[in-house]
Amino acid sequence: MKILITGGAGFIGSAVVRLAVSQGYDVVNLDALTYAACLENVADVATSPHYAFVQADICDRAALDTAFAEHAPDAVMHLAAESHVDRSIDGPGTFIDTNITGTYTLLEAARAYWVAQGKPEAFRFHHISTDEVFGTLGAEGLFTEDTSYAPNSPYSASKAASDHLVRAWGETYGLPVVTSNCSNNYGPYHFPEKLIPVVILNALAGKPIPIYGAGQNVRDWLYVEDHADALLTVLTKGEVGRSYNVGGWNEVTNLDLVHRICALLDQRRPDHAPHADLITHVTDRPGHDARYAIDATRIHTELGWKPAVTLGEGLARTVDWYLENEDWWRPLQARQGVGVRLGKTDAAVSK
Ligand SMILES: NC(=O)c1ccc[n+]([C@@H]2O[C@H](COP(=O)([O-])OP(=O)(O)OC[C@H]3O[C@@H](n4cnc5c(N)ncnc54)[C@H](O)[C@@H]3O)[C@@H](O)[C@H]2O)c1
Repeated sequence: MKILITGGAGFIGSAVVRLAVSQGYDVVNLDALTYAACLENVADVATSPHYAFVQADICDRAALDTAFAEHAPDAVMHLAAESHVDRSIDGPGTFIDTNITGTYTLLEAARAYWVAQGKPEAFRFHHISTDEVFGTLGAEGLFTEDTSYAPNSPYSASKAASDHLVRAWGETYGLPVVTSNCSNNYGPYHFPEKLIPVVILNALAGKPIPIYGAGQNVRDWLYVEDHADALLTVLTKGEVGRSYNVGGWNEVTNLDLVHRICALLDQRRPDHAPHADLITHVTDRPGHDARYAIDATRIHTELGWKPAVTLGEGLARTVDWYLENEDWWRPLQARQGVGVRLGKTDAAVSK
């Protein structure tokens, strides 16, 4: 099977690329190489005869048509997106462009290619989305695949819109689509503007570790390699037209999470313990969702998938990876917007 993977130079996409190539799939990685991309994430497979790279924007229909014609994929896994909630507060326009218009453009390019191929039933368009489309939970309850959509940030609203487009292209045109909605990921190659890498890298540098508000927001964390495995499971075993929630059964408050990371660093860098002394509460993110929690029963019972890595194991692996890979993260800290507080309530209005 040849898979066209969009966003394969990003955090999750690169984990899918590495896993798919290691499992013998042919992979075409299509990525625009935005600020969030890093081709080193796929350096391990870059010389494989099973790997090809196309630099293209998913809003560029001509480039997409060329990629489909030249590479003739059997499936698409769509991960390309603008993904940082804080950036979506400061500049929602790129989220509308990539996540909505880009998904529409990719759907149309995929549909044109699929029609030209004689509408093969085995073709798949797998759309990768987030649990943030469901909004926020109180202290009780879980997101199921039937939970109503109620996105609260420009990011999650743009992803919700893309989910609806994908569903409609399945219902209206018969394109064989499948969608998955996942909780927060963490692990190696996580871009250093996201919570877990920020905590590790600020703690190592002896800088304040920022916690939004009281830090009581609850997230359900999934190790990125488990997510990549879930995605290949959904692609190959998922039922057309169905969606699958993916989660780690690892609910924790942001504050607890940060304390766990600090404790791991205390063991590895005892000279600078206790790292938790660096925790600093800062102004909360506007519209900050209180709690996300996934009911992943469907993917478990119907497709036989469950995560392999516990939160304790995954955090230890992640901390060790950042300690060993300064050459990867150090240059990324110089990229635009990294290390700067983004997404506050006084965000400028776009013109
Ligand atoms: N990170 C998470 O915790 C999480 C959880 C659930 C779902 N998701 C979803 O998974 C997907 C991947 O997330 P991630 O964290 O790896 O994101 P990321 O920001 O690390 O990577 C996104 C990739 O998409 C590429 N890209 C952006 N705009 C593009 C465009 N217009 N054309 C082509 N390529 C473009 C970037 O260059 C980058 O390589 C996203 O769709 C996201 O919504 C993420």
